[in-house]
Parts: sequence; C-alpha cells; structure tokens
Amino acid sequence: MKEDRYITIALAKGRLAKKSMEMFEKIGITCREMDDEKTRKLIFTNEELKLKFFLSKANDVPTYVEYGAADIGIVGKDTILEEGRSLYEVIDLGFGKCRMCVCGPEAAREKLHNHEQIRVATKYPNIAKNYFNNKKHQTVEIIKLNGSIELAPIVGLSEVIVDIVETGSTLRENGLTVLEEVCPLSARMVVNRVSMKMENSRITDMINKLKQLV
Ligand code: PRP
Repeated sequence: MKEDRYITIALAKGRLAKKSMEMFEKIGITCREMDDEKTRKLIFTNEELKLKFFLSKANDVPTYVEYGAADIGIVGKDTILEEGRSLYEVIDLGFGKCRMCVCGPEAAREKLHNHEQIRVATKYPNIAKNYFNNKKHQTVEIIKLNGSIELAPIVGLSEVIVDIVETGSTLRENGLTVLEEVCPLSARMVVNRVSMKMENSRITDMINKLKQLV
C-alpha cells in the first residue's frame, strides 16, 4: 500500500466525535477544518498528515468501515454489537462509558424473573434478541423504537426496555429502574479488514500511540 494515500476516519456524530478529536490531538493529529461548528461540510481534510475525517450517524460508522469507505471508525460498542458488521475492533478507548441494561418499573421485575412473555421496547433489537434468546433463553416480543425509549413502559407500550444507561437520571426522572445489566459499553476504534491486513504502517503507528493513552 502506498504510504502517501489518505487515511479516512469515520466518527460517530455528537459527543463521541468531540471526545475522539480530543484524543487524536493528544497524539498530534488535528483537523482545523473541523473546529468551525457552523460548517455544513461533510468531510474534513488535513493535507499535511494526509488524513480525511467525516461525521456520520453512529449506526452508519460500521458500514463505512466494513466496505472500506473509511479505514478507521470510532463508535460505541452498542453500535458495533447492534450492526454486527465485519471489522476489527482494535482499541477500547475508555471514554463514553455506559451500560446496556434492561430497565422498567419495579413492578416488571417479577414478570422478568418469572420468564413471562413480556414486550421489550428498544433501539437495539439485535442486542435485545441476543440477550433474551441466547443468554436468558426467554421468549419476549421485541418492539423497535427510534428514541426516547423510556416512554414505552410509561405509556404501556412495553413492560421493559433495553437501553443505554449513563448517569441513570433519565430513568430516575421517569420512575424507572435498572432491572438487569446486559453489558458494559464504551467507545471503540474499529478498522477495515483490508486496511488492517495491508499493515499500513501509519494505521499501526496510530493504534500503538492510542494504546499508550488508554
Ligand atoms: C440515551 C439513552 C437514555 C439516556 C441515558 O438517550 O437512550 O435515554 O441517554 O442517559 P442517562 O442515564 O445519563 O440519563 P439519548 O440522549 O442518546 O437520546 P435518545 O433518547 O434519542 O436515544
């Protein structure tokens, strides 16, 4: 692989992107074009370092990386698990720490415990299916939602939810609680299989430097 080609990095839009750029800065990788918060540009370049960065919806980051449209991606473990794409997960970056949990009102605990046929609302149907079918061997009905998942048990759409818990304040403010933990989560660096196999020294250098930070 030619060493002067661009390395493309896909970042999940939002909180993780900001943290990711702070982390890159620590190993001398910056992208001044990205500092302008009002820009409508989608792709940002550092000509000197031959790097390109782009922001996408978190769910799309593994797709860009699997197909090689990005060599590297930074995205939450929740998205990696949910999307199930073929890629290398190379570093647990240690930020964006939270938990995937089964949550609901206290009253749902017994139904869950008794393996009753309950409804589970979630933005993560694959993670929820895998947890209930393969780990708990429990038959449930999964209902896919796209946000504000905590609403579901409050308005009677489902008994429980499978969702991300960070501080727990969304649950507390809505009279819900963590009933079971599915798995811990954090931001991960993922790399395209071909980019990794070609042993592009710029990518391996970057990985080694980042590993020393975490
Ligand atoms: C996430 C998650 C919870 C909340 C948890 O939602 O789905 O609702 O954050 O955080 P907390 O434990 O600190 O309260 P997000 O803000 O990403 O928006 P969403 O409801 O659209 O998924």
